Amino acid sequence: MRTRDIVMRFGIAGAFLLLSEMGVASAQTTASGDGGKLARTFCNACHQVEPNADAPSPNPEAPPFARIATTPGMTDLAIRVFLRSPHSTMPNFLLSEPEIDGVIAYIRTMGGT
Ligand code: HEC
Repeated sequence: MRTRDIVMRFGIAGAFLLLSEMGVASAQTTASGDGGKLARTFCNACHQVEPNADAPSPNPEAPPFARIATTPGMTDLAIRVFLRSPHSTMPNFLLSEPEIDGVIAYIRTMGGT
């Protein structure tokens, strides 16, 4: 459906809805920004997701992301493998591969390799 058809069918509100959905789609292509949003939505109930290693996590068992970033051996692959299965204490949700990429890119903004 073209924008003009949508305007005719749903009026101006429909066109705005379409435009805002296009905005969401383009936001999803910026991996690290998206990862930060995901982290703040899904992970910050337990983890400290802001790049301040000294700030404690809401759940003291859950390591702050800045510490995960600099933990030796916590490679991109290790994080990826970890996130493909739900961790014991985490609610039973799984991220899609692009979401995992985004979260890893976000964690990497805090250090590590
Ligand atoms: C309900 C609480 C909770 C939520 C929500 C949660 N985690 Fe965790 N996470 C934990 C706990 C507790 C640990 C440490 C114990 C364990 O490994 O199971 C942990 C460990 C981890 C580790 C491994 C750290 C290490 O050194 O082994 C990674 C990576 C991780 N979480 C990433 C995430 C990401 C990314 C999200 C969001 C998509 C997330 N977690 C959401 C509680 C949570």
